[in-house]
Amino acid sequence: MAKLDMNDFSNNQAAVDATYSEKKLRIGIIGTGGISGSHIEAYLNQPDVEIVAGCDLIPGKAEDRFASHGIEGAKTFVDYKEMIDTVEMDAVSVCTYNCTHAECAIYALEHGLHVLLEKPFTVTLEEAIAVMKAEKASGKIVSVGFQPRFDANMQMIKKIVQSGELGRVYYVQTGGGRRHGIPVSWSETFIEGDKAGLGALGDIGCYSIDLVMNALGNPKPLTVTGTATDFFGTTPEAYAEVGKPECAEKFSVDDYASAYIRLEGGVILDFRIAWYMHMDTPGDTIILGTKGGLRVPSTDCWNGSFDKPMTLYHDVAGKPVETTIPLLPPTYDLWDRKIRSFLDAIITGGKAPVPTNEILYNQAILDGINRSSKLGREIAIEIPEI
Ligand SMILES: NC(=O)c1ccc[n+]([C@@H]2O[C@H](COP(=O)([O-])OP(=O)(O)OC[C@H]3O[C@@H](n4cnc5c(N)ncnc54)[C@H](O)[C@@H]3O)[C@@H](O)[C@H]2O)c1
Repeated sequence: MAKLDMNDFSNNQAAVDATYSEKKLRIGIIGTGGISGSHIEAYLNQPDVEIVAGCDLIPGKAEDRFASHGIEGAKTFVDYKEMIDTVEMDAVSVCTYNCTHAECAIYALEHGLHVLLEKPFTVTLEEAIAVMKAEKASGKIVSVGFQPRFDANMQMIKKIVQSGELGRVYYVQTGGGRRHGIPVSWSETFIEGDKAGLGALGDIGCYSIDLVMNALGNPKPLTVTGTATDFFGTTPEAYAEVGKPECAEKFSVDDYASAYIRLEGGVILDFRIAWYMHMDTPGDTIILGTKGGLRVPSTDCWNGSFDKPMTLYHDVAGKPVETTIPLLPPTYDLWDRKIRSFLDAIITGGKAPVPTNEILYNQAILDGINRSSKLGREIAIEIPEI
């Protein structure tokens, strides 16, 4: 019977078997804001899960969240430490804003819990290293919340690159953006520096970087010259469509970032991401190799989907040819796959579906762009031993 295999690109794995636990897995939710709803719904779809606890800094928020999903009997807290100290659990989903990802994940690991950690991994590289050290010491797993990795078309990008069809890859352009899309409709925590830490960079930039880093086999980043700016988020006009001009006062992250990153193996990664810009798109993702080039349409790549086919540019009998890569049927149950694969790894003692060691370089790039932007020059990326 087929198991979900992230390196099996033969089809979209529409029907995958899971390894169900005989005893119900006891799950806690840390941070019960917007995205916790997707975690909770996907956990509730699993027959071997019981959501036993939840917490949020804001009093009453965990209770309201659980009530809206019809969850009864789960304990609720405002302090995640108290929840972890007093409730017996197997794992937690960390759904807090970015600045508290590291502390919550580390405390959970130190208390013997597996962690499903929302993206971006953390805010700084230093925090990511600290989480990985705690993970190593605990013997538990941390899976990072990149659900686009479960999308069949996203997986096809990696298959094409890894098949050698492009030859030696030497240049990659990636990123994405919105014309008017600073996310303040469901929560304003995304725009506050002391909560989100990173703006467009951490919200959607990390997805574009994962798309290409995962396809390339995760080459080490060596240097970065980058910029992260806030020309729009700091103006009331940027919120005209959502009617929240007061957000301009709160805005303290980036709304645009771009960078030129040198990767091991002589590959250049050219990256740009925007929450707001006077342009339809900052460009498709393109991957240039010595035998072929791949164009991935820029639409919503960070959500695990694009709605136009990819194009492969190559030579046939010395003539330039373009081959359309047919779109595979979309993968609708990304969240169930994200949650189920995490549970399966816990039950089987297997590797995390999106392991921290595959996201570390992503975090190093985000951190490097921020540091380079502040210093106004190129910087070397140094990754300490874990
Ligand atoms: N994978 C995805 O598709 C996806 C989509 C949206 C958001 N996210 C990520 O999920 C995270 C949360 O986003 P959101 O939209 O739910 O934000 P949100 O602001 O709606 O919710 C975050 C909640 O965490 C709580 N919180 C923060 N620190 C806490 C702590 N130490 N203890 C307890 N509660 C704490 C806040 O009070 C808030 O209620 C972010 O890191 C974001 O990047 C992922």
